[in-house]
Amino acid sequence: MNWIESFTSENKPIVALAPMDGYCDSAFRATCKFVAPDIVVFSEFYSADGLHHNPLLAERVLTHDPIEHPLVFQIFGNTPEMFLSAGKIIESYGAQGVDINMGCPVKKVVKCGYGSGLMIDRDRAMKIVNILAENLKIPVTVKTRLGWDGFEELIDFGKSLEQAGAKLITVHGRTRQQAYTGDANWEPMFDLQKALKIPVVGNGDCKNYEDGMQRIEKNGERGLWGFMIARWSLGNPWCFLAGNYEPTWQERIAVMERHLAYMVSSKWENRACLEIRKHFTHYLHGFEWVREFRKKLATVTSVAETAWILAELRGLY
Ligand SMILES: Cc1cc2nc3c(=O)[nH]c(=O)nc-3n(C[C@H](O)[C@H](O)[C@H](O)COP(=O)(O)O)c2cc1C
Repeated sequence: MNWIESFTSENKPIVALAPMDGYCDSAFRATCKFVAPDIVVFSEFYSADGLHHNPLLAERVLTHDPIEHPLVFQIFGNTPEMFLSAGKIIESYGAQGVDINMGCPVKKVVKCGYGSGLMIDRDRAMKIVNILAENLKIPVTVKTRLGWDGFEELIDFGKSLEQAGAKLITVHGRTRQQAYTGDANWEPMFDLQKALKIPVVGNGDCKNYEDGMQRIEKNGERGLWGFMIARWSLGNPWCFLAGNYEPTWQERIAVMERHLAYMVSSKWENRACLEIRKHFTHYLHGFEWVREFRKKLATVTSVAETAWILAELRGLY
């Protein structure tokens, strides 16, 4: 049974950490799974060509902790053969799925025909899905947007993806043109789910588990299979837990310590110290002395020093 079937066979909603470039590395994914073991985690996107050409890159980004399972690696590109090669490499690292990025709106990405660019290059998009679906054992999924500049094509596009072999589609409720502006529109996703057999997962502006469960409901029934959270999970892995869970101060610090430990076990010390800063700033967002803390962290060069600052924080409340 693949990871998608393990949810659908039990009629369990799919709750997922969304892919975020610069954030969803092994350490953050493991931290989210440590706090919320029932979720699925998606990686930040990696270049299919990069994984194909550079085994050291593959080793660095695909090595992970089994706590992350089910783990889906997201890749971008636009050459079917590169996707296939990258997909096979991902499979060999023991991940549970491969997700294709068909939603990134960034100009330089779209200009190369990657990300959202694949929404308007359908033949190529379907070839990519098909070659992966035919040749991998793990399921192939797609993350896309409502459409290019409207959502008239969404159902047709989704049907083609399903026919090409996609096993799940995540839709961010904005168009490529909107990028991140305006509110996410979840309505068109319900029609998409009705038109497809495979699960549709909604994404966009979802703050936490309770918000997500409400958003996927339509007329008192579950209208989508699940939801993904991106921005609201930063510094807040508790957002995936039921009941609007609020961690105590001690829990917050303990999870920050664990995040640091995962970071250290997956990256070189100087890189770990540097990269943990942005995460720690998120964990402490809204607390009055976060600025002072950020200043302290900015000069830190060793894990021991970082851990010491955390120990200091522990005593604050
Ligand atoms: C910093 C950042 C990086 C992102 N990187 C990716 C990415 O690599 N792949 C992807 O499909 N979406 C990426 N996204 C989009 C998110 O997955 C998500 O679709 C979007 O943020 C809307 O969800 P939210 O309202 O829960 O944040 C990124 C978003 C942010 C804020």
